This record gives sequence, C-alpha cells and structure tokens, in this order.
Amino acid sequence: GEQRELNSWVFMVTARAPTNIAVIKYWGKRDEKLILPINDSISVTLDPDHLSATTTVAVSPSFSSDRMWLNGKEVSLGGERYQNCLREIRSRGRDVVDEKSGTLIKKEDWQTLHLHIASHNNFPTAAGLASSAAGFACLVYALAKLMDIEERYAGELSAIARQGSGSACRSLYGGFVKWDMGKERDGSDSIAVQLATEEHWEELVILVAVVSSRQKETSSTTGMRESVETSELLHHRAQEVVPKRIVQMQEAIANHDFASFARITCVDSNQFHAVCLDASPPIFYMNDTSHRIINCIEKWNRFEGTPQVSYTFDAGPNAVICAPSRKVAGLLLQRLLYYFPPDSSKELSSYVIGDTSILGEIGLKSMKDVESLIAPPEFRSQNSSSIHPGEVDYFICTRPGKGPIILRNEDQAFFNNKTGFPF
Ligand code: DP6
Repeated sequence: GEQRELNSWVFMVTARAPTNIAVIKYWGKRDEKLILPINDSISVTLDPDHLSATTTVAVSPSFSSDRMWLNGKEVSLGGERYQNCLREIRSRGRDVVDEKSGTLIKKEDWQTLHLHIASHNNFPTAAGLASSAAGFACLVYALAKLMDIEERYAGELSAIARQGSGSACRSLYGGFVKWDMGKERDGSDSIAVQLATEEHWEELVILVAVVSSRQKETSSTTGMRESVETSELLHHRAQEVVPKRIVQMQEAIANHDFASFARITCVDSNQFHAVCLDASPPIFYMNDTSHRIINCIEKWNRFEGTPQVSYTFDAGPNAVICAPSRKVAGLLLQRLLYYFPPDSSKELSSYVIGDTSILGEIGLKSMKDVESLIAPPEFRSQNSSSIHPGEVDYFICTRPGKGPIILRNEDQAFFNNKTGFPF
C-alpha cells in the first residue's frame, strides 16, 4: 500500500573516493571560512585501490541526530567544516523515491531528516597520509547521490567538498586536476577542473615512502594560517611564481613531458617547504629522512643529466615520488631499498605494498634479494653510512587513478540496512 510504517525504512548509498597529491601546492587562504586559496594548484589523483576513503551515508526517519563514525569510532559532526558541507548539500537535495521501499523523500524533507555517515580509509591513518581530501570528497559525492543532486554547473560539488578541506575539491576527479582559485567572493568559481584523465599518462608510476616520525606536526590549516600571516615569501610565491608554473605544468602534462613535470614538481615542493621555513616561528614538515630521500633523488637525476623521477612532500615527512615508466620505477625501488632497507625481521611483502608487480620485474622476491643490492653508480664513492635502516616504515606502489564511484554492492555498506547503524 501507499502508507508505509513511519520508521520502517533506511535509505543508503556507499561511495569510494581517491586521495590526491599536489604537484603545484595549495598553501594559503584568502578566506578561511569558505576555504578560498591564494593560488591555483594542480594534483594527480592516486589509484583508489591503494589510497581511498569509502563512505556509507544513510537517511531514516528513525535517526534522532546526525552522526558519524570514522574508521569505526564515533566522531563529532559539530565542526564548522562538516556543518558547512552538510548545509550546502542539504539545500540542494531533490525529491527522491527509494525504489526498494517505495518511499518518497520530498526535497524539503532533507532539512529535517537526520543522516548517519560511516567512513573508512584503506590505508593506515597513522601513516599521516592526507585522509581529509578523500574523506570530504567521498562524503559530498555520496550525499549528492543519496539526495539525487545534479550539478547546476561543472565543479559545483567540488566547491562544496572544498569547504570541508581545500585539497578535497581535487579528489572529485580522476587523473590530473587543477583547482582554480576563482575570484568570486562566494567561492562559486573556486572549483576543481579535470585537466586529463588517468589514461592520458598511464605509464606514470607513483611511489609513496611512508617515513617514520614520532613528532606531531602542525596541521595544514594552522601552518597555512601562520604562513599567510608571517611569510613574505608566500605572497611572492602566490603572485609571481605559481601562475607561471601552472601554465608550464599544464603544458608538461598535456605533452607527457616528464622532464618538465619532474623539474616543476620538485621546485614547487621545495618552495612550499621554504615558505614554511619563512614563517615565524618556522614550521618544519620534512625531517632528516625526507632530506636524505631528496638528496638521493637529486644525486641520481644529476648523474643521469635529466630528471629520472620527481619528489614532492606535503605537510609531513612522507615522500611521493613519480617515475615515467615501470622500468625507471624499478631502478628507483632498487635505490630506495638499498638506502632505506627495513628494520630487521620485516618481510618484503609488508615493506612494499600496493601494486608490487615491479618488484618481480627487477628480481626482488624476498629480503635476501634486498640485502644483496649493491650501491648505485652515482653513490659508489660514498661509504656505508649512507644506508639508513628503519627510517622508512613502508612503501606504497601506486599510479594515477580514477575519480569517485558509487559502490552498488550492498555488502560494501558500513551500516545494517534495517537499522542504519554500524555492524
Ligand atoms: C600541503 O587541504 O589539508 O597538502 O584546506 O585547511 O583543510 P585545509 O588544508 P589542506 O591542505 C593541503 C596542503 C598541502 C598542499 C596541497 O594538497 O595542495
């Protein structure tokens, strides 16, 4: 019949969204509340098979408040950023008929119905890998599906995700993505735009070195605010340097010009960290291991006469390294495993994770093979003090990846479909 029991239905959607790594960094806001940046940025989306957030959103008249569970633990939705995203999404909700239960949700109902949200990352949160980008992108994408929201203009959803965390706007697309800073006061033109799909440059191999660190870092949000307030270099960067690099980087990507891509990526990462050092008091995100990784790559690149790989570091010590092909990625892994072997007792299969097929291609099957690696030619003159066991926790081998998707298989939801509560 038409009339269903009032509390008898739960309607839910599950989505997965990728993380992204900036090759031209976003650093500094002109509007803290709307999260509007002072410069454009460009990123590569990482393969969601290795680095992504999966989020189930549910709605039911039986829910008594908005609630969220992150990696299995309940967290507060009281923060301004969550509130802004939820408000923006709710105001765009449309009439929805749940096919299965025959329930009609009127568009005005979204204002009063409560939501349950459960999100999990497929990579260790302790690794200090940016999880907020994937998380907010996934939340906005899943809610848009739940509420049947269609973009009125391209990038509208990215402008909502942006209000959760700036870098999240870039996770709404796969491949290579630009975040246009925009100029409107309301942020409606501060949106992400896809420059090229992941297939455009699918030979790229991306290696994340998760660097061991004990210290708690300054959050991006705080570091950015302090940089805007105290660094002169930051303003020079945003006004004079980044606009040129954005043009050059777009060209490098369009032309598969790896040498230019690598040069710009490295200098931009280094300038971002120089800006942090220029803040007062200075902010340090990289540690000794990060610096050693830079040295090892710079030495190799110089030895070969042309960039073999690029490196970039966000607001933490982890390195994200790009190689133009599987062959070069193999040479890179041989070097990194030589300089940064695991602490004793670790298996190779837990030290290099993700797409580890390259290991086989270079004949590395076990830790025995790693132990017999010899010093690369550019480092032969050095002594064994250049070997640093245990400084890297592990490596994730990945590639450019696709944008968010809806997971239609009910088994992938994080809520019981009768109660709308976590299992
Ligand atoms: C260094 O997006 O985490 O990773 O907007 O305050 O949430 P909020 O900051 P966030 O900053 C990312 C900074 C960065 C560079 C980048 O991703 O472009």
